[in-house]
Amino acid sequence: MTVTASRAPADVPETLLDVRDLLVRFRTHDGVIYAVNGISFELGRGERLGLVGESGCGKSVTNLAIIRLLPKPAGRIEGGQVLFDGEDLATLPENEVRHVRGRDIAMIFQDPMTSLNPVITIEEQMVETIVAHRKVSKRDARARAIELLGMVGIPRPETRLKSFPHQFSGGMRQRVMIAMALALEPKLMIADEPTTALDVTIQAQVLELISRLTTETGTSLILITHDLGVVAGMTDRINVMYAGFIVETATTQALFERPSHPYTVGLLHSMPRVDAHEGEPLIPIEGRPPDMRNAPRGCPFAPRCAWRLDRCWEDNPPLEPVERGVALVTTGPGATHRIACHNPPLPDEAELGRPTRPGHRPAPAPEGQLDELATLAAVVDGVTAELPR
Ligand SMILES: Nc1ncnc2c1ncn2[C@@H]1O[C@H](COP(=O)(O)OP(=O)(O)OP(=O)(O)O)[C@@H](O)[C@H]1O
Ligand code: SF4
Ligand SMILES: [Mg+2]
Repeated sequence: MTVTASRAPADVPETLLDVRDLLVRFRTHDGVIYAVNGISFELGRGERLGLVGESGCGKSVTNLAIIRLLPKPAGRIEGGQVLFDGEDLATLPENEVRHVRGRDIAMIFQDPMTSLNPVITIEEQMVETIVAHRKVSKRDARARAIELLGMVGIPRPETRLKSFPHQFSGGMRQRVMIAMALALEPKLMIADEPTTALDVTIQAQVLELISRLTTETGTSLILITHDLGVVAGMTDRINVMYAGFIVETATTQALFERPSHPYTVGLLHSMPRVDAHEGEPLIPIEGRPPDMRNAPRGCPFAPRCAWRLDRCWEDNPPLEPVERGVALVTTGPGATHRIACHNPPLPDEAELGRPTRPGHRPAPAPEGQLDELATLAAVVDGVTAELPR
């Protein structure tokens, strides 16, 4: 929790996780991959934070770095701190990190089969996990396992405990994973695209379950998804990531009411909305995300941004409050809305999804820089500002 006001507001939660200037690189045969480029954010106790952005923007790598499970040997934390409950996980010895991971931080991945052992019954896996991290007898661990399976909606949990993972449907397996994750009463749950592999009808149930159980148990949640619709109903705050940077951060309500970064505006216009006017088209974000093998230079969104100015090509803006001069609060319902942008869309431009100010044209790309808007601009030269991005 960072508050520069003289007194912290009463509703600012105590900080559980404090990620500072996290830098993650992959050193591959193909060269360096600039996966996470110095991001900072905090998470309060009991807070639910969404991490959204297109594929490849660094969502999973951020969280694998937090729990120190980056693919080895290529992936490395090359800078920054991950303060969890006051301890820096980025530098903690491996055996101690393993302990924190099992006991205090639980993870749910897209495909539960990657986390469940296929040749061991659910009972053995759950009991083993509980006994390994809590001082309880096997008998008590079994009773807890049954209780948890019941909580996540597995019918006849006593009987189902004897099953192997493959005897469950995808949705049921994800419920088992949630039960296992909650078995240790973790302080933090990280759910990485937890429903992508499930049928649409099951997705909502599983999300509702994660939301309800984390709220009931006061567990902090980081929910990773490329789908803004999913985080809308399930999180208190959202970090929007682009090319390994956080480009916008706000409470969920503020982000939807007043999206302020051109990329977030693009994301919102590209997703179906219940409040859309009839016939309102979905506008995909033009162009592709940057190649993460190139060292970041300038604003990473510049090649796709209709609001860009000349300086955007060279100067990557820091994350700063949308309203200048306000006290900086980094967690809780009063968290400061911040963006990294030199030329933010005005509210009516955000509503329309394109710049409308007279005379504005996206600044041309300097020699050697990719311009994802150029093809579009070339088609109808002179009316670029009228075009969807
Ligand atoms: N094992 C790896 N080796 C090399 N590069 C990797 C590896 N894992 C991830 N990366 C790179 O790191 C960057 C960030 O990847 P990450 O998996 O975090 O994306 P993401 O936002 O989770 O995307 P998605 O929505 O597709 O899951 C990408 O450019 C990706 O190619
Ligand atoms: S206006 Fe500039 S800084 Fe803002 S997103 Fe566009 S290119 Fe980046
Ligand atoms: Mg991912």
